[in-house]
Amino acid sequence: MTESNLAERPPEADYRHIVRLQGVQKFFGAVQALRDIDFSVGRNEIVGLIGDNGAGKSTLIKVLTGVLSPSSGRIFVRDQELDLTDYSVRMAHDLSIETVYQDKSLAEKQPLWRNFFVGRQITNRFGFIDIRRQKQIADQILKHAIGFRGVGITVDSTVANLSGGERQGIAIGRAMHYKADLIVLDEPTVALAVAEVRKVLDFVRRIKASGRACIYIEHNLAHVHEVADRLVVIDRGAIVAEVSPKDMSVTELTEYLIDLQHEP
Ligand SMILES: Nc1ncnc2c1ncn2[C@@H]1O[C@H](COP(=O)(O)OP(=O)(O)O)[C@@H](O)[C@H]1O
Ligand SMILES: [Mg+2]
Repeated sequence: MTESNLAERPPEADYRHIVRLQGVQKFFGAVQALRDIDFSVGRNEIVGLIGDNGAGKSTLIKVLTGVLSPSSGRIFVRDQELDLTDYSVRMAHDLSIETVYQDKSLAEKQPLWRNFFVGRQITNRFGFIDIRRQKQIADQILKHAIGFRGVGITVDSTVANLSGGERQGIAIGRAMHYKADLIVLDEPTVALAVAEVRKVLDFVRRIKASGRACIYIEHNLAHVHEVADRLVVIDRGAIVAEVSPKDMSVTELTEYLIDLQHEP
């Protein structure tokens, strides 16, 4: 990617939903992983996606981000219907949809600044990679997008020296820097210590504050309840409830999910 691509894009036309699925089904052979899914994310909305293991959460976001194609149904991005015959991860990227995976998205032994520019090198007017500029931008991401100030982390730190929460921060900061309008987080706090989880929740708040939207998949109900604008519950491939955290306490939500598991 050249420097000019990193500059502000022209403002997007007005839209209501950054993404919307309509009547989406997904089969893996005979297994139906998604059933008639209607799901949308508004501008600058943080949607918590919750449900038991195997409920279909990851499949839903994979369909939405072009990793898997749906067996049937329609997908809209910024209210425009996509032609699903050529929807792909690459196209989702081009549409400013970024997914942050639990791990593996960062190169362990590389300094942080290199991690921000993997596959998206900034070149100078001679076509050479502009290291100084990349480091400057990486420094801005660290300090401004994700608030790593005075914690002893610099653009030259290696990923291997970061805590789990900090790694999530780097991945989220990278997505924010690339002007993602929707950032998808699939269980970012798995295997993190409590203090690290706090950091991730703070990153989610930063996504909100920066005007972006987020889909936050989280098994810990208290955590997702704390930061989501809306919670969507998926059970055995179907969306069974949508609630506002204001209207349902964490305890009520927990009981509701336990009850679901006892339904036939
Ligand atoms: N690539 C795949 N091939 C076959 N079955 C799959 C595949 N991915 C997911 N599944 C099945 O689809 C269902 C939903 O899985 P998943 O979306 O990963 O659930 P969750 O993320 O909510 O735990 C499960 O029954 C799972 O076994
Ligand atoms: Mg999953």
